[in-house]
Amino acid sequence: SWTTSNVVDEQIAAIRAQVGDRRAICGLSGGVDSAVAAALVQRAIGDRLTCVYVDHGLMRKGETEQVEKDFVAATGVRLKVVDASERFLTALAGVSDPEQKRKTIGREFIRVFEQAQAEIVAEAPGDQPVEFLVQGTLYPDVVESGGGTGTANIKSHHNVGGLPEDLEFALVEPLRKLFKDEVRMVGQELGLPDEIVQRQPFPGPGLGIRIVGEVTKERLDLLREADAIAREELTAAGLDRDIWQCPVVLLADVRSVGVQGDGRTYGHPVVLRPVSSEDAMTADWSRLPYDVLARISTRITNEVAEVNRVVLDVTSKPPGTIEWE
Ligand code: XMP
Repeated sequence: SWTTSNVVDEQIAAIRAQVGDRRAICGLSGGVDSAVAAALVQRAIGDRLTCVYVDHGLMRKGETEQVEKDFVAATGVRLKVVDASERFLTALAGVSDPEQKRKTIGREFIRVFEQAQAEIVAEAPGDQPVEFLVQGTLYPDVVESGGGTGTANIKSHHNVGGLPEDLEFALVEPLRKLFKDEVRMVGQELGLPDEIVQRQPFPGPGLGIRIVGEVTKERLDLLREADAIAREELTAAGLDRDIWQCPVVLLADVRSVGVQGDGRTYGHPVVLRPVSSEDAMTADWSRLPYDVLARISTRITNEVAEVNRVVLDVTSKPPGTIEWE
């Protein structure tokens, strides 16, 4: 029968059987899934796991600091932080097609993991090889990416359909059969704090798939500001538990005319995409209070230069997906 403690015991046994006495690395994204996957594997193989946090420059405001602080404090895991923002920006230059972005980001992640692997081996060459890559892939990721067949049904999740073909790692994916609510229960069972377990989902490719158009440093900076304002106001209004997540999307190739002070503006719109959902397979748009929407809109247009319109996405999934790309 399905109980979280059964799932934990089964997965720990399966991980031990798969990894044996060798070593693994786990990409931490700051999200629930990779945190729970890492905590499970750590339970199974202890410090033969090294977590790697790749700062790809597509993170939200404050996210990197949070991973370094919260997760390490909660688990005591070995953590390696890699600043790879230049590398990702270079790889993404000129890319605006959503699937190509996802594949580019997936490929760069793996390249960074390979480098991290080499460094870990160099630091302790006598130890067992680092052969495994732990990922927090969930059941819906597998389904929407076409079951890892390489052909995306809907979109290539960065850790499934976005992997390069010449992957040198064997994958360890202890959450592959679970839905998000089950992952949260497993995380609780493992003793992870609420700040991690109840965190809203955030996609591995980060803000890279929330800029419709090419990803540049300037655009990322704009979006990071707008997103931080929206999150701050939603939290202040006590709405974090009511919504599943609220992507903020920059329509970077769209401009519209506005007026501010006594001047004409010609800026970009951002889209608010608040949704409610059980498992992200389907979703409905959240009926947020108008006064909260008004505060977010006023603050974003006042505080983020270049953004002169805030629009609300009122599409369910289907037919829309949660993210715009
Ligand atoms: P969609 O846009 O497919 O999103 O309706 C469903 C859920 O998955 C998240 N998402 C991702 N998570 N890697 C992830 O770790 C990805 O590549 C990815 N793409 C989408 C999205 O935020 C939503 O919660």
